[in-house]
Amino acid sequence: MKNFSVGISGIGSYVPDKVVTNDDLSKMVDTSHEWIVTRTGIEERRIAYQDMATSDLSTSAALNALEDANLKPEEIDLIIVATVTSDYALPSTACIVQKNIGAVKAAAFDLNAGCTGFVYAMITGANFIKAGIYKKVLVIGGETLSRIVNWRDRNTCVLFGDGAGACVLEACEEGYGIISSELGSDGDNYEFLIQPGGGSKEPARIESIAKDLHYIQMDGREVFKFAVRAMENSSIRALELANLDLEDLDFLVPHQANIRIIDSARKKLKLPEEKVYVNLNKYGNMSSASIPVALDEAIKKGKIKKGDNVLLVAFGAGLTWGSLVLRWNKEDEDV
Ligand code: ACO
Repeated sequence: MKNFSVGISGIGSYVPDKVVTNDDLSKMVDTSHEWIVTRTGIEERRIAYQDMATSDLSTSAALNALEDANLKPEEIDLIIVATVTSDYALPSTACIVQKNIGAVKAAAFDLNAGCTGFVYAMITGANFIKAGIYKKVLVIGGETLSRIVNWRDRNTCVLFGDGAGACVLEACEEGYGIISSELGSDGDNYEFLIQPGGGSKEPARIESIAKDLHYIQMDGREVFKFAVRAMENSSIRALELANLDLEDLDFLVPHQANIRIIDSARKKLKLPEEKVYVNLNKYGNMSSASIPVALDEAIKKGKIKKGDNVLLVAFGAGLTWGSLVLRWNKEDEDV
């Protein structure tokens, strides 16, 4: 192909089968189903079993995506795992996925951009293909947020869940695939969403663990205000860069953090509810895994057709934001 774009040739996802409902949580912390649903839209979430790590969820999602792309693991050139909950501080989770699936010739690395990680990873992977360095890139968003959430802190433990989604990126017909992207960050406000312990600043020590520093801490109100602004502005910018008007947008797959944040973006983009995919009621916020799991479900439900303009938009720790417009490149029968 002389002139080409980069598109998704295969997609897959995996969530653990263990369900934790809001009523289950109300037995652990001072909360209620009613509070959680009204403030967030979340009804239940999936939690990984004790012996499951992020690499395990990511491996299952990756194998599903490879099957969908009709590729063998040894054909993959690069694996990027977007995660804030890697198996270990080192090595990367991507290297463990590489071993698990047998992607013997792939380079592999992790990428941390908070909940925006999947969008960052898609754009990174696509540019390796655009530059002619690689042909087949496996991009995974995999998380076990349950491992870094304080199950005694009602401000955070009700929000998150575990899961993984994966896409294979390859060259596709020009004008399809990724047609625009926008990434940004605001490091000034990094403390609004942070896991302070376990890194070089506050290494794991008896004192840091006693102070619960190894758990997520969040200023929910500040993150909420930032999220509404970031989702709206980034979406508009990505559409402008794609030379699209609001009415050209066919479908929105937003980061699944809070239904009120999604609704404000939907209204700004003047989209009816049926053109926005929402599954946070079932899974909560799975950070980097939210968008690929939602996109996979939307495709399997036949909500996206070849030629549709699909916007992915996310925000997260960093603070970061990012969006990309995909012109869906697969025929329905390929899915
Ligand atoms: N159950 C009952 N009450 C609760 C709970 C709970 N689970 N959690 C907090 N409350 C209380 C608070 O203590 C507070 O009580 P107070 O008024 O006596 O102090 C009250 O409810 C209201 O708290 P607010 O913070 O005003 O509630 P708000 O309407 O803002 O909703 C929420 C809180 C859901 C966290 C919201 O701010 C939000 O969604 N923020 C964005 C969070 C987010 O998206 N984070 C993920 C980022 S992505 C990443 O990179 C991981």
